[in-house]
Amino acid sequence: MSETFSDLDAHLEAGAAARLADFVALLSIPSISALPEHRPDLEATAAFIAERMRHAGLEHVEVAPTDGPPVVYGDWLRAPRAPTVLVYAHYDVQPVDPLDLWVKPPFEPRVEEGRVYARGAADDKSHVAMHLAAVEAWLSVRQALPINLRFLFEGEEESGSENLERWVEAHREQLAADLAVVSDTEFLDGNLPAITSSLRGMMYAQVDVRGPDLDLHSGGFGGVVRNPADALARILASLHDEEGRVAIAGFYDAVQEPGTRIREEVARLPFDEEAYRQRIGVPELAGEAGWSPLERRGLRPTCDVNGLWGGFQGEGAKTIIPAHVHAKVSCRLVPDQDPERIFELFRRHVIDHAPSGVEVEVHLINTGRPSVTATHHPAVEAAAGVIEAVFGQRPYLIFEGGSVPVTAVFDKTLGLPVVLLGFMNPDCQAHAPNESLVLDNFEQGIRVICRYWEALAEAPLAGQGASGSASAA
Ligand code: BES
Ligand code: MN
Ligand code: MN
Repeated sequence: MSETFSDLDAHLEAGAAARLADFVALLSIPSISALPEHRPDLEATAAFIAERMRHAGLEHVEVAPTDGPPVVYGDWLRAPRAPTVLVYAHYDVQPVDPLDLWVKPPFEPRVEEGRVYARGAADDKSHVAMHLAAVEAWLSVRQALPINLRFLFEGEEESGSENLERWVEAHREQLAADLAVVSDTEFLDGNLPAITSSLRGMMYAQVDVRGPDLDLHSGGFGGVVRNPADALARILASLHDEEGRVAIAGFYDAVQEPGTRIREEVARLPFDEEAYRQRIGVPELAGEAGWSPLERRGLRPTCDVNGLWGGFQGEGAKTIIPAHVHAKVSCRLVPDQDPERIFELFRRHVIDHAPSGVEVEVHLINTGRPSVTATHHPAVEAAAGVIEAVFGQRPYLIFEGGSVPVTAVFDKTLGLPVVLLGFMNPDCQAHAPNESLVLDNFEQGIRVICRYWEALAEAPLAGQGASGSASAA
């Protein structure tokens, strides 16, 4: 196989240093979607990407406004009888706090020991850069692609993709394709090549508990009023039972229990639980009884407190009963749980478990649907083949715990089969200090993508997206 790609490989080989410098430039822009003051940086990143797309030879390149960060679109549609692929990645990144734990500032990329360290180095600017490099190689070496490509890069993923979802629904024709390739996932622990076959959905909410109008002297009032912090603690403690199951009534009603075949598949994955535990740095792994750690993170729904605040946070002692306290809580969802329905059940549970004497409010922050891709789809087979050709080993099929909200929109709204083609090393520390990408994953990933476009040209694919239902598991 490699012989057919020697021209592309030679081009990539020669361009490695310049490519890394350009990736570093992309990583230097602080495109944090959660913080309004970074809006100009999101615009600058979008402009940067659009410029690289035009330079690579893509057409109809535009930075399209949404009510959130802009979408970057560009295409190459000059392969009349070949399939069309919609390629997705996101250019926004997570906030960087706590800043003092970074060895170097998060937007001053450093290259060291075969990795590049920066916020977004893995999640997800790596994939934006890999796709740009692959299409640049094809168009510069061969002046054509073997298939049609539409690129959609968004800047709102880390904040829930709500505006992107509306944009996608309003631009169905512009996005017409036979297949979506979503590049925002990782390899298996140990940096073993893998294709992700499912992502969990998400329901993210906030709980506010209010007691007295103002903080009260805990000597003068302790024993007289309900303490909001105590009330919130009771509510949060009621979310799980002793077995680690989520105790919200109806929470599991729509859950599709994984069959024995899938559980056997997961059990066969080469996963070192002890190494995993040590890498995270916890005294023990914990969760729902009856399921392995890989099952608990990939196949089972969960409920987690993400943040908890209120009352006195300073050093020393201040004797008060806090007037109000708060929690952020999220649930990771699996098919066929519906995020809005789960919010309703969650809200009811919180209200029902709130002790008297306080006021409790619950509001929804964001949602995303779970998605499962068709593992026996020819496009997945083709991806497995090219990953094997480049990495020298067959990729594992894995089930991811994270969420990429737009995946379900491509699947359910556009009716496209989705391939989750991602190359991040699992120890990339996405969302955490000192995020890093293994440069071999970057370079090999580009070579996989180059070969994938050729493989898809030969796969039985064209027209399948239009007919709809190819994406059910
Ligand atoms: N790339 C991640 C999703 C992911 C995580 C895939 C781990 C595979 C393994 C993505 O950028 C992400 O962080 N998504 C958010 C979505 C949320 C903000 C709606 C998530 O999962 O928390
Ligand atoms: Mn991501
Ligand atoms: Mn992320």
